[in-house]
Order: sequence, then C-alpha cells, then structure tokens
Amino acid sequence: MRFAYVNGRFLPHGEASIHVEDRGFQFADAVYEVWSVREGKLMDADGHFDRLERSLGELRIPTPRSRAALEHIIGELLRRNRIRNGLVYLQISRGQARRDHAFPKQAVQPTIVLTCKRLDHAAAEARAERGIAVVTVPDQRWARCDIKTVNLLPNVLAKQAAHEAGAVEAWQVDRDGRITEGSSTNAWIVTKAGKLVTRQADHGILHGITRARIFKCAQDVGLEIEERGFTPQEAYEAREAFLTSATSFVTPVVSIDNHSIANGEPGLLTLSLREAYLGEA
Ligand code: PDD
Repeated sequence: MRFAYVNGRFLPHGEASIHVEDRGFQFADAVYEVWSVREGKLMDADGHFDRLERSLGELRIPTPRSRAALEHIIGELLRRNRIRNGLVYLQISRGQARRDHAFPKQAVQPTIVLTCKRLDHAAAEARAERGIAVVTVPDQRWARCDIKTVNLLPNVLAKQAAHEAGAVEAWQVDRDGRITEGSSTNAWIVTKAGKLVTRQADHGILHGITRARIFKCAQDVGLEIEERGFTPQEAYEAREAFLTSATSFVTPVVSIDNHSIANGEPGLLTLSLREAYLGEA
C-alpha cells in the first residue's frame, strides 16, 4: 500500500486529501521541494532544506516543522512505502482559510503534504546514455522564478509542448531571446571553446541544487563556468548540451529544436560531470 503524509498523519495514498479552501489549491500559495532518494539516502539533503526555508521566507509562510522533524517524517514515509530508490515530494501551503486573496488576518497553520514514489534509476541511466531531445518555447512565467512555488502552469504547458513535439524537455526563452532554463531542469551548454555556460541565478531561474553541485564538480577539475544567458542559436552550435535536476541528475541533450548537437551523441564532458556528481552524491 502507498502512504502519504498530511498535517501530522500518515494516510493511505488514496485517502489523503486537503481542504477545498486550502490556499495552495486556490491560489498556488505554496512552495515545494523534491529530493532524489538513492539507496535509501536523500541526495543533497541540506541544499534542498536550505532552499525550502528560503522559499518559505520569501513568501512569509511560517516554517511549520524543524528540519530534524521533517527528516524524521521523510524517513518514516520512505520506510512505510518501502522505497530505497525514488523521490520525495514535499509541499507546504500557507494553510486553509476563507477564499480571499490577501493573507488570512488570523494566523492559520500551514498545510504540509509529503508523498514519495519509486523511480527506476536504470531507465534514467539508459536515457542518459542515449541523450535526449529538447525544444525551445517562450518563457511565460512570473518575475520570481527563484522561489520554488507550485505556481507551475507555464512549466506544465512548456513540458506538454515538448512532449507533443516528441522531445523530453522544453527550454524557455526570455524576451531578450536567451534561454533561461527548462520547465523542470536547469539548462547548460559547452561552447566550441570548451566553456561551460549556464544562466545566471537571479530571479529569472530556479537556483537548482544540482546546478550548484555541478559548479563544485567543475571547480574540482579546474573548469570555469560562465554564468550568462545563451541564445538557441548558440545552443544549436554548441559542442555539448545537458540539463540538471534532482531527479535527472546530469542528462545529455543531443538535439535542440531538431538541430543535432555536435555529432548527436552525449558529450564527454557532460558524461564526466554526471559521473562526478553521482560518484560524490
Ligand atoms: N524540478 N528549474 C526548474 C524550473 C525546476 O522545477 C527544477 C527542479 C530545476 C532543477 O533544480 P534542482 O536541481 O534543485 O532539482 C530547475 C523538480 C525536480 C520538479 O519540479 O520536480
């Protein structure tokens, strides 16, 4: 049986629910985090907890449980679901209140929901060996993409557009014609001159935890990273391209808008960064 956690209780997944006037449901007034679980261990645990606290702080949602308490709940959820390889999803909304746009006048308890699911890391590995296709779409999101909110409609539409085009991910392009990030991943290229390039982490993208770890892996081997936006044209002409996220780690991109990247095979630097990331994780 699958279990979910809602506001202090472990419930059968099919019976777990929240109130119709939960502000996460009504207004997307909620934040979330996703951790990969590998051999029973949370990957990059601290990075994701730090970002969760930052997201809550930016939206002035009180932190409802300590990090230690959340870690305990996550451990118990994984145990009950018998998951050693998969992902954990955590969502915290501002809570339940009569529908009104402004924050509730009287303090309400934030809503906490946790679920987990099994993932087939072997299938992801096979995909990484082949590489994936991405397409570009306009970035239609709001001005605070650094906060990990459940306000994901533009991301949903972008991912759907990618799937309908036979691709795995959509890279979003801002008004200046530069790629910001994927719908649920950060975007990277390796230029012909061998420079690693990814968009600067300001309010325009999510500050990926995996992205930050790749900075560290690159530093360890003396590789410099240029933090700047790059155009689709620059990406088509890149030597390598890849994306990063908690659940896809480092995944080679071999086609962008139907342009083959280099010889259409995963890049060597990309594969070595994937190995370095997974080796240290
Ligand atoms: N997505 N950019 C966006 C828009 C994301 O939603 C994510 C994460 C990332 C990568 O961040 P990280 O390396 O911290 O996972 C970048 C998660 C996995 C999701 O929505 O399921």
